[in-house]
Amino acid sequence: MAIKTFIFISVLCYVSAQERKITSTLNPGLENKDTAVTLIHVRAEGPSDAVHQIWDFTQGVPTAIFALTKNNASLNVTWDNLRPTGISLMEQPFYTFAAVIDKLYEYNDIHGHGEINEFSEQKQYHLKHVLWNRTNLILNDKEALVEVEAKKFKDGHQWRNGTIHMRLDLIPYTGYAVELPHLIHTANSSLVDVSLINMTTTPGFKSSRFAFHFILASAEKYIDLLLRKSLDDEHTPGVFEIIEIKMPRSSNKNDDGGFMQFRPIGYTSKQRGVTSSTNAHVSRFNATVLPEQSTVKVFYDSYKDDLVNEMFVSFGEAGDGCYRQSNYTSWSFTIGYGLPPTESFSFFVIMVISIGLGVPVVLALSGIVYVIVRKYKQRNVRSRLNNEE
Ligand SMILES: *[C@@H]1O[C@H](CO)[C@@H](O)[C@H](O)[C@H]1NC(C)=O
Ligand SMILES: *[C@@H]1O[C@H](CO)[C@@H](O)[C@H](O)[C@H]1NC(C)=O
Ligand SMILES: *[C@@H]1O[C@H](CO)[C@@H](O)[C@H](O)[C@H]1NC(C)=O
Ligand SMILES: *[C@@H]1O[C@H](CO)[C@@H](O)[C@H](O)[C@H]1NC(C)=O
Ligand SMILES: *[C@@H]1O[C@H](CO)[C@@H](O)[C@H](O)[C@H]1NC(C)=O
Repeated sequence: MAIKTFIFISVLCYVSAQERKITSTLNPGLENKDTAVTLIHVRAEGPSDAVHQIWDFTQGVPTAIFALTKNNASLNVTWDNLRPTGISLMEQPFYTFAAVIDKLYEYNDIHGHGEINEFSEQKQYHLKHVLWNRTNLILNDKEALVEVEAKKFKDGHQWRNGTIHMRLDLIPYTGYAVELPHLIHTANSSLVDVSLINMTTTPGFKSSRFAFHFILASAEKYIDLLLRKSLDDEHTPGVFEIIEIKMPRSSNKNDDGGFMQFRPIGYTSKQRGVTSSTNAHVSRFNATVLPEQSTVKVFYDSYKDDLVNEMFVSFGEAGDGCYRQSNYTSWSFTIGYGLPPTESFSFFVIMVISIGLGVPVVLALSGIVYVIVRKYKQRNVRSRLNNEE
């Protein structure tokens, strides 16, 4: 009983122990506080450093910028009307990186593999034209969360209907996300969900699917795409793979740096489950440049942008009826600083493993003890007999 209580209390302490102290601000430096534009600065203070996150939707293109600084470095944003024109940290950061979804692609997947490639007929929707409406905001010392929604997107000169929904969530301790695929959040990372709901597809495209076009920028020259096999699928039934994109801080590829982590899985319904899941595909990287007139460009103006890569994330599998079948695609990833977190076995799995390994060991031991005891007893009997002789 005492042991059970002890375990319960330690689990509670572990869960509630904040690894960093967070302070978040909406639109820092902007005089008009009632505006609908969204730029959020979250500073997560640890014992020796601070991880800054800037989530920006002011210029259409969803942007997440990370910077690692000494403790107590403040952020200064200057504005021209409702656009940031300067973003600087009061201390030179040790390391920075950024991820941007600058475009949405629609592609005609006539071969039905799900993955976008340069041969598929495709259309680009630049997200710089998109107006984001903030639908939810939580900024306190336990969590930083924002949800935004865009209702129209532009293809050339034509506006099209559809809803793009995004959610960014920073929970400053290590744990599993409530929603499938139960990714791991830490004080150094944020959970990101993106959904494409009821998007109008191009009439000529019989097998329309959508893909996100990412731009990844970091202050270092290395980028790595890793596919890691997980030991268990306890948190994501049937999915044993984890994809990690790492932007290490130095040539030592094991070093801390920026990362994106996700399962190769997307969902085709708001109710996420095994039956509503589909494959997520990551393309290879290709060198590119920062988008013009973007917040990421404003930020990197003061630092050198050594390395900018682009990549696609697309969704679907053969025979699934494409986007039209559900009119819904959603996907989750985490983005953060440090070493990407690894799953640890839950108490339940540890119990099962211990019982599985423990029973044979106990049986073997008891066998040995039995044999020894028998031998000992026999010897005693024999020595008594000897004594009587
Ligand atoms: C950071 O600022 C807080 C109050 O603003 C102060 O209490 C703390 O000592 C400062 N820490 C460092 C490392 O300067
Ligand atoms: C998408 O379309 C379905 C069916 O027409 C409707 O029930 C749902 O509310 C729509 N969702 C959004 C976010 O527009
Ligand atoms: C990589 O980028 C170059 C220059 O923008 C482009 O010509 C090329 O097609 C791209 N390659 C892929 C595989 O996307
Ligand atoms: C998806 O939307 C198209 C029209 O845009 C409609 O024809 C189709 O029935 C919808 N599919 C579902 C499953 O609602
Ligand atoms: C967060 O980053 C710090 C380094 O700044 C590192 O020491 C710590 O282990 C990281 N925490 C997690 C949970 O990754």
